Amino acid sequence: MSAETTHSQIAFPQETLAEVNRILGLFPEDNKKSALLRVLHIAQAEFGWLDVPVMDYVARLLHINPVEVYEVATFYSMYDTKPVGKVKLEVCRTGPCMIEGAEKIVKYIEDKLGIKDGETTADGVFTLKTVECLGACGYAPMLQAGEQFHEHLTEEKVDALIEKYRANPRANYMGM
Ligand code: FES
Repeated sequence: MSAETTHSQIAFPQETLAEVNRILGLFPEDNKKSALLRVLHIAQAEFGWLDVPVMDYVARLLHINPVEVYEVATFYSMYDTKPVGKVKLEVCRTGPCMIEGAEKIVKYIEDKLGIKDGETTADGVFTLKTVECLGACGYAPMLQAGEQFHEHLTEEKVDALIEKYRANPRANYMGM
């Protein structure tokens, strides 16, 4: 589905819905909300990003109020409530990474890709986001791209990872 379109007709494919129902089955009838983070991850993987129709769909599946989904989806940086590129470069901007030069890395990526924090390149490949601590403080400065961590970043490493993902955006997933 194109990242630019709004999701008007929302439904998980049957296989995905079966997995969501399996997850929901792990929780008591009166506490399906506990599955919200996991189901939002699945929805984001399925639809690319979480717009209001997607969040409303998730709310219906979990039998909770839509505003409860909006609150969670807008609180955590791992969820995208606007369209993003195929590769999200999430640069940590918390203390230890800042001390080790995260600000310089962000500026370097901004200049290299011609976008600012929160923006997506015109070709729809890269989105740059700054986020809070990703739990790899000992390897600062670092960024996450999909399921991959890139640590002890330098400008040379940024050049290499951008080249790699430009050639194959799916390379930001494990095993690729
Ligand atoms: Fe950057 Fe923790 S401060 S990963």
